[in-house]
Amino acid sequence: MSVNNIPMLRTEKRAALEDTVARWKAAGQRVAFVPTMGALHEGHLSLVRLAKQHAERVVVSIFVNPAQFAPHEDFGSYPRTLEADLTKLQHAGVDLAYTPLADEIYPKGQDSDIKAGEAAKGLESDFRPHFFDGVVNVVARLFEQVKPDIAIFGEKDYQQLKVVEELVQTLGLPIEIIGAPIARDAHGLALSSRNAYLSAEELAIARKLNVILRKESPTPSSRPTAGGGEILRSLDYARDDIKEALLEAGFDKVDYVEERWGRKLAAAWLGKTRLIDNIEI
Ligand code: PAJ
Repeated sequence: MSVNNIPMLRTEKRAALEDTVARWKAAGQRVAFVPTMGALHEGHLSLVRLAKQHAERVVVSIFVNPAQFAPHEDFGSYPRTLEADLTKLQHAGVDLAYTPLADEIYPKGQDSDIKAGEAAKGLESDFRPHFFDGVVNVVARLFEQVKPDIAIFGEKDYQQLKVVEELVQTLGLPIEIIGAPIARDAHGLALSSRNAYLSAEELAIARKLNVILRKESPTPSSRPTAGGGEILRSLDYARDDIKEALLEAGFDKVDYVEERWGRKLAAAWLGKTRLIDNIEI
């Protein structure tokens, strides 16, 4: 195992972050950035590895962003494992961990009116209307502070990746956005900090999400037609079949199953835990 022995820098201060990054840039080094909310797992670390392939320096932020949680959501109980996170980042060879306090990101009186663009419409926004405005506000602020050349986002949150690509275009920021493949466990379950909420029983059901999403839907002709011979769209069949299969597998509620960007995307609930996943079609 290769453990990086160069001590990782860590700061809670915007000024210290900016000084360090400015020094690197003055030395001609490229900076890649991986924003996270902590509770780090292999999915996050795979983003760090990709970042290291693209730049001499890697900055990771850990900030549980209150603006992207609705009042009834899990901001208060979101897993916070800072010490373990920092150890993982140090071992992964990260150069700087930025762990700002809320004031550093949201100074009092400094409101921002950035709104998420077209990519935010539908899917997640139908169920979490506040979410992408919260994401673009924190991401825009982090970009402004870190000023990276490259930023890495996971395809696990595919709509978020698209929203951030659009944000960078709209703001005209000189940042290259790179999407990282979904890291999964041995059963294909997409790794997520929220998987920590699952009971053993729920975990077994959660692992069926990717399997069901991958299944080929029966062709329309092999299904009975509703109103006597009318032509029904295969997409609707696929969507309904998947929803049905998820409920049968033990999911409590399915928020959506949709096709967009050449992918099949789904969000479903297991008890109090909401899981999302997507696969290439
Ligand atoms: P968080 O959920 O911590 O995720 C941080 C990054 O890791 C995101 O880009 C996410 O897509 C990626 N990621 C999470 N699980 C992954 C997996 N199994 N495979 C690949 N990538 C994975 O997403 C957020 O935080 C926040 O919305 C943030 C962008 C930090 C803004 O607050």
